[in-house]
Amino acid sequence: MFRTNTCGELTLKDAGKEVRLCGWVQKSRDLGGMTFVDLRDRYGITQLVFNMDSDADLCTKARRLGREFVIQAEGEVRERSNKNPRMPTGDIEIEVKELTVLNRSELPPFTIEDESDGGEELRMKYRYLDLRRNPVKNNLILRHRVAQEVRKYMDGAGFIEVETPTLIKSTPEGARDFVVPSRMQPGTFYALPQSPQTLKQLLMVAGFDRYFQLVKCFRDEDLRADRQPEFTQIDCEMSFVERDDILDVFEGLTKHLLKQIRGVVLDEPLPKMPWAEAMENYGTDKPDLRFGMKIKDLTSIVKGKGFQVFDSAEFAGGICAEGCSEYSRKQLDELTEFVKRPQTGAKGLVYLKYGADGSLKSSADKFYSPEDLAAWVKISEAKPGDLVLILAGDKTKTLQALSDLRLEMGNRLGLRKKDVFVPLWVVDFPLLEWDEEEKRFFAMHHPFTSPKPGDLKLMESDPGSVRANAYDLVINGVEIGGGSVRIFDPEVQKLMFRILGFTDEEAEAQFGFLLNAFKYGAPPHGGIAFGFDRWVALLGGQDSIRDFIAFPKNNSGRDVMLDTPAPISGKQLDELMIGIKNQDRS
Ligand code: AMO
Repeated sequence: MFRTNTCGELTLKDAGKEVRLCGWVQKSRDLGGMTFVDLRDRYGITQLVFNMDSDADLCTKARRLGREFVIQAEGEVRERSNKNPRMPTGDIEIEVKELTVLNRSELPPFTIEDESDGGEELRMKYRYLDLRRNPVKNNLILRHRVAQEVRKYMDGAGFIEVETPTLIKSTPEGARDFVVPSRMQPGTFYALPQSPQTLKQLLMVAGFDRYFQLVKCFRDEDLRADRQPEFTQIDCEMSFVERDDILDVFEGLTKHLLKQIRGVVLDEPLPKMPWAEAMENYGTDKPDLRFGMKIKDLTSIVKGKGFQVFDSAEFAGGICAEGCSEYSRKQLDELTEFVKRPQTGAKGLVYLKYGADGSLKSSADKFYSPEDLAAWVKISEAKPGDLVLILAGDKTKTLQALSDLRLEMGNRLGLRKKDVFVPLWVVDFPLLEWDEEEKRFFAMHHPFTSPKPGDLKLMESDPGSVRANAYDLVINGVEIGGGSVRIFDPEVQKLMFRILGFTDEEAEAQFGFLLNAFKYGAPPHGGIAFGFDRWVALLGGQDSIRDFIAFPKNNSGRDVMLDTPAPISGKQLDELMIGIKNQDRS
């Protein structure tokens, strides 16, 4: 037997027991006649002690142990004189009688401590060492727990987990596909699924009624903190349901996870906010409702007073930051810089300070009378001591910039607390988005999303105004999931493809398998997919999903540990009948 116990479980009640432990040397300390070694495994750390007086050879051997050596130690559990209340095993130590070095280790390239000295890139290269560190290890344990809770809930609700293939045909989720060349049919390619969307719909045609899967999805798109090229979805589909049947089931899942993982109990039904309202009040389709600070439309009252910036603007909107009327020049300059960043793109920032003494001071007050400013205060719902921040310009861009600014102010004011969870459903998205460059409509969700029943009649006459029977689950400003009620009438599906600019032949070539299946009795159905990595990061209180994935890619989509993507051999290319074009295309 390699070990009798793990390094995380021995306490005072085990004092006097003979035990054998295995693990990695976290660190060792020589204190004259005594050597202490912290032995670590997945479960914790136990202190080993070697005494020069009782066994000089053994103690000398212990002194030669390097960091991360793998050892086996045998000895007696005894009470520590110098207890460490911060460790579960901090009351005891092992007085070692036998020591075996199972494996040596080179000096690791960074310290395996909670606060490591290793930079991101180095830790990614040696991810297996990074994973020995508590913060990352605990993230993966959390991921495991969340996955178990998801399966428990879904099984309890009658869902069946079905695996779908990874080598498939292009799926329409709006990103680029990763493709895999076929050796047996040279010149043809599989696509990796951006999601199992079409397959889960086929499972509904097959009569599975309630399907789910924890599934890898692949999207070749620009990466961000909450996006990886390879990520995991909790993918779900249900038959014979309307929108609210679906939302009820997944509201249940949401509450189950928050309760089981974070102990947060939400009694109230989740709010359902129409997309248009979210855009108008928060400037985004994923509002963070942990705080208020709604956007107020000031357009009509700021125009016509000779201030060119506002007079020429399509839209002017303000947010009210509570208790910030004393903001300094420097703080206001910082905010101006913030909104001018290319990603936010505002031209400038106008402020109105509503002093605690009732005074009104604005950066644009030479154009506005005190009465004008009082009207701003009224619409912004500012109180004495508040600061109103105003942006103006093109409506869509300004709302977006106000959304960024609102989140920035939320951060500055400590309103985005990691242990508060405010979920909501955003509903009634537009079905279609007009693309000015390509001069055509794109499906805002995907082409299988049905219009809201009442809007079907507008499909041909005014497609831009049709609302989709689609919904997103948003928590704390993160899009955790999205789904829709699907089109199940082949004629409506054909119409949708036509509006999206597919000829009947193109639709047939790309989605013939689905259209065909719909000829054989498709039930009314709908579903949703959650970003599993995002769920786990949110429950773990972090913004980046990377540290909740065992072996993630970096920002350029590389796995620096595996050193991939990488070229393949000429022989492999020949087998696939693929030639690499000269990369220098200048
Ligand atoms: P959608 O494209 O909205 O819907 O994706 C569902 C959820 O997956 C997560 N997600 C991602 N997470 C990490 N990295 C990425 N690159 C990434 N892209 C998406 C998000 C998102 O809300 N088939 C539909 C679902 C349906 O209609 O049932 C779909 O995939 O949290």
